[in-house]
Amino acid sequence: MDIGIIGVGRVGSALGRRWAENGHAILFGARDPHGEMAKAALAQSPGARVGSVREAAAFGEVVLIAVPGISVLDAVHACGSLRGKIVVDANNWFGERPPGVTRSLAEAIAEAAPGARVVKAFNITGSGNMLDPCYGEQNADMFICGDDAAAKSVVGELASSIGFDVVDAGPLSAAIGLEHLAQLWVHLAYRQGMGPNIAWKLLRR
Ligand SMILES: NC(=O)c1ccc[n+]([C@@H]2O[C@H](COP(=O)([O-])OP(=O)(O)OC[C@H]3O[C@@H](n4cnc5c(N)ncnc54)[C@H](OP(=O)(O)O)[C@@H]3O)[C@@H](O)[C@H]2O)c1
Repeated sequence: MDIGIIGVGRVGSALGRRWAENGHAILFGARDPHGEMAKAALAQSPGARVGSVREAAAFGEVVLIAVPGISVLDAVHACGSLRGKIVVDANNWFGERPPGVTRSLAEAIAEAAPGARVVKAFNITGSGNMLDPCYGEQNADMFICGDDAAAKSVVGELASSIGFDVVDAGPLSAAIGLEHLAQLWVHLAYRQGMGPNIAWKLLRR
């Protein structure tokens, strides 16, 4: 599958690496394609290439957006048309909601990118868990949500292919819950001192 990744930071490079290792074609989109972060992402991701944000967005059947919450809408605008594409929103906000976001980032992306098939995913846990979601006998859960069932199934497969147990949290309106869950993960990891080797697991009976 052709995957465009907007943002070559911790999340973009971790997921790009795992998907490249699984044989997907990755084009990273960076504001500075020759910068150190882009070089580091490329070095870890077999066969991946780097270009502009617009080039990566045009390339991907799936377009992952992984930039700071405050920059998400700028990045979406820099992508050009995302109509028909599966857009994966891995982003979070902390403190004040970014300008232009009244509810969740995911719903703001859907509003800013008409026709995009937005799926919230990969936001609830740290990038270290994306590189290795295994906890002994158990795998970390990845909660995802979105309004397009086919898009959600593709993203669920991308998550399970790198080792997550996928939990479908329903429609895109559930994204605000996933964004708050990410805030709780950061709180536990960094303010409560638990560290980044923690992950969510849904128990059922
Ligand atoms: N880190 C985690 O463990 C984690 C886990 C889950 C979710 N998240 C969320 O995922 C998102 C990315 O986090 P991260 O830790 O990967 O961030 P990061 O390491 O700080 O990297 C952010 C990337 O976004 C790029 N960027 C910033 N503004 C941009 C714009 N307007 N257009 C295009 N690219 C832009 C940066 O490039 P420049 O060098 O050009 O600024 C950089 O490559 C955030 O919303 C974060 O809350 C993070």
